[in-house]
Amino acid sequence: MDRYAVIGHPVEHSKSPLIHAAFAQQTGQQIEYGKILAPLDGFAATVASLREQGYAGANVTVPFKFEAYALATELTERARVAGAVNTLSFKGSDILGDNTDGVGLVRDIEHNLAVPLAGKRVLLLGAGGAAEGVLGPLLATMPSRLCIANRSVSKAESMVARAKPVDVLLEACSFEALAGQVFDVVINATSSGLSNERLPLTAGLFADGALAYDMVYGRETPFMQYAREEGVRQIADGLGMLVEQAAEAFYLWRQVRPQTAPVMTMMRAL
Ligand code: ATR
Repeated sequence: MDRYAVIGHPVEHSKSPLIHAAFAQQTGQQIEYGKILAPLDGFAATVASLREQGYAGANVTVPFKFEAYALATELTERARVAGAVNTLSFKGSDILGDNTDGVGLVRDIEHNLAVPLAGKRVLLLGAGGAAEGVLGPLLATMPSRLCIANRSVSKAESMVARAKPVDVLLEACSFEALAGQVFDVVINATSSGLSNERLPLTAGLFADGALAYDMVYGRETPFMQYAREEGVRQIADGLGMLVEQAAEAFYLWRQVRPQTAPVMTMMRAL
């Protein structure tokens, strides 16, 4: 039986074992998937130990996605663009690093929520690891405009400067500079929801029929409350992204694509 695990610090809260167990049951794949708490200074040693034990791969979560990127001996294009890795496959002496976060987000928005991003005005809030991880796949959907707003504007500016040139109006700005601007899709990739902090967003940011998406899952964040107060009807948390990024990792490891809708329903009922 092939073994996998999610490595993080903390990791206790991780829903990945539940999701992968559900995928395995649904597809008839024989796998084991656990949780591994790595010491903050012991990510590489933890990976080495998993490889010695014969693990076939691992997911990587906070705060190790950059170390996983550095440790990989081979990277997929989307991992290279993200500068971070959330999925490792162990193949002999090689460690293949991939990043499924961005495609997970895009699949949740375009497929599950039925909001095509092509031609849309998209606002990405945040310029940390979570935002960096999804920028490439978001740009690939060809929105008409993608604006990255961050408290520290210089971080948004450096994301814009590093992005691969595409035919999308890509800009960086402060939260204050958003006043008077209107977007069709607003994605919160800041960690503000985790600490229950409200972003300094002004009224009137959402176009009619807009989607408000928070990458944090499992509760109504202050950003989601703000969207509700602004009259937004389509408001989503990041559970769909979590399940979709897991499905993409499962596909990478097992070459079988699980159905995500029943797993999302199961997770919502927990
Ligand atoms: P993650 O991996 O979750 O992206 P990170 O790399 O530490 O974590 O980035 C956190 C992001 O959330 C950053 O964009 C951060 O803004 P700064 O770059 O200005 O620090 C943003 N963030 C966190 N708490 C915030 C708050 N209360 N208000 C505004 N932005 C916040």
